[in-house]
Amino acid sequence: MVDLSKFFVRAARLEDEVAISDICVRTAASGEDARDRYSRLDLPGMIWAVPYVLFNPEHCFVVDNGAGEAVGYIVTAANTRAYEAWQKDNWWPRVASFLQEFEPQTEGDRNFLTSLAQNQQPAPDYADDYPAHLHINLLPPAQGDGFGGKLMRAALDKLRADGVSGIHLGVNRENHRAIGFYKAMGFEQVADNGAPIFARAI
Ligand SMILES: CC(C)(COP(=O)(O)OP(=O)(O)OC[C@H]1O[C@@H](n2cnc3c(N)ncnc32)[C@H](O)[C@@H]1OP(=O)(O)O)[C@@H](O)C(=O)NCCC(=O)NCCS
Repeated sequence: MVDLSKFFVRAARLEDEVAISDICVRTAASGEDARDRYSRLDLPGMIWAVPYVLFNPEHCFVVDNGAGEAVGYIVTAANTRAYEAWQKDNWWPRVASFLQEFEPQTEGDRNFLTSLAQNQQPAPDYADDYPAHLHINLLPPAQGDGFGGKLMRAALDKLRADGVSGIHLGVNRENHRAIGFYKAMGFEQVADNGAPIFARAI
């Protein structure tokens, strides 16, 4: 039995990297477990989770299960353009070395490579209007009990304190639950980049 009373939100730490990557793959199929889609379970986290914690840990938060283990996270890049520049110099070369021996074996693997190429391109104009961006994912035991809202408020409070004026995110259009959550958190759709883009002022 999971004891939710022990769960709390705290700042992310570099030691959370493995747990954050694991949460990422367990929620990467429009919010559902995607572990059967990939031949390597660390693939989704290389794009959508781990580098944020390395780039700006102070703008990332986790739900701690009371035993020091992350069971949910929000990762943000406070400045998407600065993050893109950092990735170009510091992260994509590391990903290339991680993938040196990698041969895609599944459709998920091939989709990952497509996403990797897309993520190496600069984000469209909405990244100038809403400079920060985010990803939020909780494991099922942590979902539906207010922790998503707590993570979002922790991240927005920190970004606001640091003078960031707006934030955007992309979501799979089939992920109705997440879209409902984002609307409840004050986001509205501002663009469609293949996937709907939601944003709000901070
Ligand atoms: C989406 C997600 C982050 C939401 O976090 P959560 O902890 O489940 O949501 P909360 O309990 O904090 O809900 C906060 C508010 O969002 C709204 N909300 C949540 N789920 C909703 C839904 N399915 N439809 C409409 N609104 C919803 C509610 O208004 C809720 O407020 P309430 O407490 O007054 O009911 C979480 O469910 C999750 O990680 N899902 C799997 C991964 C995922 O899909 N991530 C997003 C990828 S883009």
